[in-house]
Amino acid sequence: MRTLRQLFENNRQWARRIQKESPEFFERLQAVHDPGYLWIGCSDARVPANEIIGLPAGEVFVHRNVANQVIHTDINCLSVIQYAVDVLRVPHIIVCGHYDCGGVKGACRAESHGLIDNWLRHVRDVIAKHRAALDEIDDPGRRQDRVCELNVIEQVHNVCRTTIVQEAWSRGQELAVHGWIYRLSDGLLQDLDVCITQPEEISEVYRLACQTERK
Ligand code: CO
Repeated sequence: MRTLRQLFENNRQWARRIQKESPEFFERLQAVHDPGYLWIGCSDARVPANEIIGLPAGEVFVHRNVANQVIHTDINCLSVIQYAVDVLRVPHIIVCGHYDCGGVKGACRAESHGLIDNWLRHVRDVIAKHRAALDEIDDPGRRQDRVCELNVIEQVHNVCRTTIVQEAWSRGQELAVHGWIYRLSDGLLQDLDVCITQPEEISEVYRLACQTERK
């Protein structure tokens, strides 16, 4: 017996609606995979990539993990970036974090959630790296928000330092890496002004972004 019937019903309705509005939609998507963006975001169910930027199927290549991490040895994330950059040739990579991120919260607190503690160790490294600046923020909520922002900035930096992005730039491929943050309470995105389009920009943009408090 098929379970989760409602989801299949939702799917049929969705496919019917698209077919009605745009009869060639699925045929076109079957023929070409040509997304304009690679989205690296958090797995959090409240931050659905396509939905919050209002783009239909086919427009966004997506990688999501807890706390939107880009780890130098994560073969999963690196494979997604490599395919997106070398094969799909996306011109934009967006790292999007969000405030009230459970992964960031977990990293900020000395509590254990099992295996995932090892993954969140990377967020703790971000906290340790920016300890001095974070200690200057008295309000705990604001401090946690800043960790969410710094985490995005660090991941943008990590994307730019991958051999994949470095090689794309060195062969003259147009590629911009962006850092954004999403607020659950109003559904709005903010640009963290950490857009990098060539290797020469990395150090300065990173330095400025780390210095700039958002609020
Ligand atoms: Co999250």
